[in-house]
Amino acid sequence: MIKRIGVLTSGGDAPGMNAAVRAVVRTAVACGIECIGIRRGWQGLINGDFVRLDSSSVGHILSRGGTILYTARSDDFMTEAGRQKAVSTCKMLGIEGVVAIGGDGTFRGALELSRLGIPVVGVPATIDNDVGCTNYTIGFDSACNTAIECIDKLRDTMQSHERCSVVEVMGRNAGFLALYVGIAVGATAVLVPEKPLDFEKDVVERIREYRLAGNTHFMIVVAEGVGSAFEIGQKIKEALGIEPRITVLGHIQRGGAPTGRDRETATRMGYHAIMAFAEGRGNCIIATQEGGIVEIPIEEALTRKKHLQMDRYRIMEVMQFGAVRSTAP
Ligand code: F6P
Repeated sequence: MIKRIGVLTSGGDAPGMNAAVRAVVRTAVACGIECIGIRRGWQGLINGDFVRLDSSSVGHILSRGGTILYTARSDDFMTEAGRQKAVSTCKMLGIEGVVAIGGDGTFRGALELSRLGIPVVGVPATIDNDVGCTNYTIGFDSACNTAIECIDKLRDTMQSHERCSVVEVMGRNAGFLALYVGIAVGATAVLVPEKPLDFEKDVVERIREYRLAGNTHFMIVVAEGVGSAFEIGQKIKEALGIEPRITVLGHIQRGGAPTGRDRETATRMGYHAIMAFAEGRGNCIIATQEGGIVEIPIEEALTRKKHLQMDRYRIMEVMQFGAVRSTAP
């Protein structure tokens, strides 16, 4: 059986990464596998930047945001020379397998390393929820709740001043975060990259319908993949003669204590990552599907696509006066 593994976090951090590290380490200890923490993601594996971990070194981190292992996006690891160095580190330290916690970029690195003979198990963690092979990625729920809390606060002041708010949320090229948050805050409009923007219909008419229904404040949620909230705000000003206030939530969405869902999911995924190694498997991504956990070969996992739930987009639209008036649900 495998005797020693490395664990790292890579790419953008996500609340719940620490919970996953804790689960990996504690499950490894229970299986008699030694655990080495690799700091600063794939770059740390190249540089031999490590820390030995035992059960007590991951105490009191379950509820902490960020990652105690630090994280990075490594250009060196994109090169063959960089990856060869990483393999040398593994040989030097006796690391026989790596648990890589991160998103798609992390898993592309994982595939390359596995091709050089170091087995990798991936644990999906990104606030974007944009990893194709899994329904859910660690950090998404926490980020949604952070954004919802911020937007609820914004709504108070927008309502008092009878203003329009344009809020930009993260998500990279995907609209999962924006759509979930938009539904949860009862946004006037939600703009996502998956749906081509018809500015007149999707924004102007919707604000107008809201106004005609008697409302005097408006909340427009924009996924960063659509473009800048400042540009959207400017276009609203030109079209409707109002002066929207712009808020870019930015990295605040990546911070804070993980929610219960993220702690619990991270713990289960971390556990399953080690069980895959302990039972002689590897080179897979730990994914959630229909509520259960499955292992998907990395190469196949990277080809999977996940589509924004357009039925949910429709539900969001139906909650708006304009959509209800123009089309039956
Ligand atoms: O992938 C997570 C994410 O937060 C994206 O939503 C965002 O586009 C990106 O990372 C920001 O990256 P950085 O921290 O390098 O600015």
